[in-house]
Amino acid sequence: MTATPLIEFRNVSRTFSTGGRTVTAVDDVDLTIEAGEIFGIIGYSGAGKSTLVRLINALERVNSGQVLIDGVDLSTLRERQLREVRAGIGMIFQQFNLLRSRTVLGNVAYPLKIAGWDRERRKKRVAELLRFVGISDKAWNFPDQLSGGQKQRVGIARALATNPKILLADESTSALDPDTTREVLRLLKRVNTELGVTIVVITHEMEVVREIADRVVVLDQGRIVEQGTVFDVFSAPKTETAQRFVNTVVRDAPDRTDLDRVRARHPGRLVTARVTDTGGLGAALSDALNRHRVRFEIVYGGITAVSGRSFGGLTLELTGEDADVDALIAELRATTEIEEISG
Ligand SMILES: Nc1ncnc2c1ncn2[C@@H]1O[C@H](COP(=O)(O)OP(=O)(O)O)[C@@H](O)[C@H]1O
Ligand SMILES: [Mg+2]
Repeated sequence: MTATPLIEFRNVSRTFSTGGRTVTAVDDVDLTIEAGEIFGIIGYSGAGKSTLVRLINALERVNSGQVLIDGVDLSTLRERQLREVRAGIGMIFQQFNLLRSRTVLGNVAYPLKIAGWDRERRKKRVAELLRFVGISDKAWNFPDQLSGGQKQRVGIARALATNPKILLADESTSALDPDTTREVLRLLKRVNTELGVTIVVITHEMEVVREIADRVVVLDQGRIVEQGTVFDVFSAPKTETAQRFVNTVVRDAPDRTDLDRVRARHPGRLVTARVTDTGGLGAALSDALNRHRVRFEIVYGGITAVSGRSFGGLTLELTGEDADVDALIAELRATTEIEEISG
C-alpha cells in the first residue's frame, strides 16, 4: 500500500519572461514529500527555491506539469478552493514579515481574525501558541522590540495559528546567528514531532539541512540534480554541486593546504580510509593494522554525525617495509574504501 504523498510535483516547470529574456526558474521538477517529513531543499541563490515553494501554496502557477496537494491538482481548483488549500499551509520567511504596527499578540491573532474566529477563541488560541513557541512574556511587545530569534518565533506562531498541515520555511534562519538558528531549528523540530506538521525547509545552508531534515533535494538552475536521505547525500554526494554544499560542513579528507602541512612532517606513505559506524568506526582498520608489521600515525581525521549516524575519513601515515605496507593496503581495500595519497 502506498499512501498519497502530501505534496507532489510532476514535471513541473515555471518560467518568467522579463525584458525579452526568459528564465526557467523551475525546470521539469519531479518531487514527492510524504506527510510527517521534514524535507530540505538546498541550492544557491537564484536556483529556483523560492519559486518552488511558492508553487506549493499556489502563490505561483505552473507553466507546465502538475502540483498536487493531498492528491488534488492545484490547477483544477477555483480561487475559493485554492484559498482553502492555502489555509492549510503556513509560511515563514527570512525577514519574518511581521506587521510592525501590531503587537506580538496582534500579529499572531491576525490570521485567526481573517479566518473569522471570534474574540474568545482567538484569545485562547493565541495564548496557547505563544506558550508553545516560548514568548508568552512578549505578548504586548511590538516587533521592533524583539530580537531576530524572537521575531521568528512570532512568525512561527502566526504561521501555525489556523492549524496548517504544512509549514513552508523559506530561508527562515538565514538572518539569524548560529546559536539562534539552532534554537529556531529545535522549535521547528518540535512543530514537526509534537504537532505532526510536515515541514519544507528551503535553505542555502547545509548546516540547516543537517540539523533537521530527513530527506533533501539539491536544486541547481531550476533542476533537481540530486536527492536522497540526508545521510546518503552527506556521506556520498554524487554531483559536483552537492559535493560543494557537503564540503561546507564535512571535512573528511585533507585539502591541498592541509596536505602541504601534513607532508612537511610526514614523509611516509599516506592513505585516507573511509570509516562509517556500520562496521564500527575504523574497527576493520584497527584489526588489519594489528596483523601487519606496519606502524601508523593518524595525521588527519574528520568524523561527521548526520541523522544520528557517523561517517568520515582518517588519514594515516604508514611506516614499515614497503612489502608489508602494500600487503596491509591490499587487505584494507577488501573491506574499506582506501585512497593512497601520492607524492
Ligand atoms: N517574479 C519574477 N519575475 C522574473 N524573474 C523571476 C521572478 N521570480 C523569480 N525569478 C527568477 O527566477 C530564478 C529563480 O529565482 P528564485 O526562485 O527566487 O531563486 P532562489 O529562491 O533559489 O534564490 C532567478 O533567476 C530569478 O531572477
Ligand atoms: Mg529565495
